Amino acid sequence: MNAPLNPLRPADAPIARVRGLHKSYLLGEVKVPALRGVDVDIPRGCFTVIAGPSGSGKSTLLHLLGCIDRPDAGRIEIDGVSPQTLADDQLSEFRARRIGFVFQSFNLLPVLSAVENVEYAMRLLDPAQGHSPAQRRQRARELLGEVGLGGMEDRRPNQLSGGQRQRVAIARALANRPDLVLADEPTANLDGHTGAEIIALMRRIQRHTGASFIFSSHDAGLIRAADVCIRVADGQIVGASIPEVQHEPA
Ligand SMILES: Nc1ncnc2c1ncn2[C@@H]1O[C@H](COP(=O)(O)OP(=O)(O)OP(=O)(O)O)[C@@H](O)[C@H]1O
Ligand SMILES: [Mg+2]
Repeated sequence: MNAPLNPLRPADAPIARVRGLHKSYLLGEVKVPALRGVDVDIPRGCFTVIAGPSGSGKSTLLHLLGCIDRPDAGRIEIDGVSPQTLADDQLSEFRARRIGFVFQSFNLLPVLSAVENVEYAMRLLDPAQGHSPAQRRQRARELLGEVGLGGMEDRRPNQLSGGQRQRVAIARALANRPDLVLADEPTANLDGHTGAEIIALMRRIQRHTGASFIFSSHDAGLIRAADVCIRVADGQIVGASIPEVQHEPA
């Protein structure tokens, strides 16, 4: 885990703090509101789901939290840092170092093997980390082993199933030991069983690393796996809760 930038930050401070967040998209001349004043604190070290119907703003919120896009108005703090105050090159480094992103459609580089896809994320931070190519290869292989892909390191994405591709994407997201892992409907392109396996894998990794995970979903079964559920509708937060623990029948 990286050392916090602000050593005075209390350990229980939220990993993400969002205030008055607005974001619209321009569709020709028409402004489409996606987020309409979002205020939320996302607890540190938890497995959090952002749940809501299609079009409610889940992806928009994750993209803003992941510093992939900038808001029209409002403030975001990730681990006490305001990404909007960073210049573009600082923002790229902050994102590469502190945030891992898992996409619905995997977004692997098709010409690279599984192990090269994972290494690629580490190469973005090369000058600062000073890892040798052999060290990067070693870590990438270890990560692929952790996500259950030992022996498949040299396969390209088109030689892997959807679930296996998403496992590569999870290994890539973890490559730089991020504090925050964001996953935008990581199971949407997978069958129900494979999707449940992917969520169980992320859940296990979250417990093991203590990082904060936020994923979006509208699948009630997957939502139950989360510690914290934040509900969005029509660009606003409409509720936040800790899903009920599922008790085994006596
Ligand atoms: N690039 C875009 N251009 C125009 N409108 C957009 C764009 N991206 C999203 N929107 C609109 O913003 C709103 C929020 O979209 P968003 O993708 O954040 O929803 P979502 O909750 O992720 O939906 P889904 O569950 O279908 O992925 C929707 O009304 C959507 O049509
Ligand atoms: Mg979406």
